[in-house]
Amino acid sequence: MSRTIVVTGGATGIGRAVAERFRADGDTVVITGRRAELLEKASAELGAQAVVCDGTDPDQVRRLVEALPGEVHVLVNNAGGNTDFSAPGDGDLAALKNNWLANYDANVLTAVLTTTALAPRIADRGAVVHVGSIAGTRGAGSYGAAKAALATWNQDVAAELGPRGITSNVVAPGFTAGTEFFQGRLTGERRERLLEATMTKREGEVGDIAAAIHFLGSPAARHITAQVLHVNGGALTSR
Ligand SMILES: NC(=O)c1ccc[n+]([C@@H]2O[C@H](COP(=O)([O-])OP(=O)(O)OC[C@H]3O[C@@H](n4cnc5c(N)ncnc54)[C@H](OP(=O)(O)O)[C@@H]3O)[C@@H](O)[C@H]2O)c1
Repeated sequence: MSRTIVVTGGATGIGRAVAERFRADGDTVVITGRRAELLEKASAELGAQAVVCDGTDPDQVRRLVEALPGEVHVLVNNAGGNTDFSAPGDGDLAALKNNWLANYDANVLTAVLTTTALAPRIADRGAVVHVGSIAGTRGAGSYGAAKAALATWNQDVAAELGPRGITSNVVAPGFTAGTEFFQGRLTGERRERLLEATMTKREGEVGDIAAAIHFLGSPAARHITAQVLHVNGGALTSR
């Protein structure tokens, strides 16, 4: 059966790999993002549909839902990233507040608005998958705190949608290459440290994350819900 999959932030990095994975099944895939040109190029390459949507803007999210065809079988809340690479403690509390709110908006509100608006349109026995982070457990300032909030809120989504057979889970990547995440700030030394922290001694690939998300959206995973699945090469263990 061909399904409809929505991937927020689907033009680059992990989101793009997720879109590609579902397209390989012949699914209808809708990708979103803020940069129209990038989105158009990616959708043409993937054979996906594109909807320009800033997931932090309620009006744009409402218009996204109106633009979607019929039922949605899998929603992947992938949009996000670390909006705050600044060092804390320079004493500017107003800037600190803005930085924390920006990461909350980018990583929590995008998922909350999209899931809430789309919930009535998600097919029974469908799936919601949020992209969290190793930082949500390990900590990383406002970014880690936002990803932790996302994982906590996932419990609510799973409980609310569970009676319809809809699952809701978080996939929490560790360091994953092939994305715009580090915005050119990843030094060779930091990369080495991140690799050294894994048990597999390699960097994560976007396909590693896409495979986990694809599984959680599949018929095989209909009784897995309210969980956080870490995909990090053993850099963090869940017990
Ligand atoms: N790469 C890693 O090592 C890593 C590790 C752990 C978790 N993650 C998580 O993985 C997810 C995907 O990130 P990535 O690593 O693939 O980096 P990425 O290449 O920067 O992808 C992020 C995508 O999200 C979109 N986006 C950001 N804010 C948005 C908004 N307000 N509304 C709509 N789209 C938005 C971006 O497109 P526009 O800018 O065009 O909107 C971009 O396509 C993020 O949630 C990130 O926190 C990444």
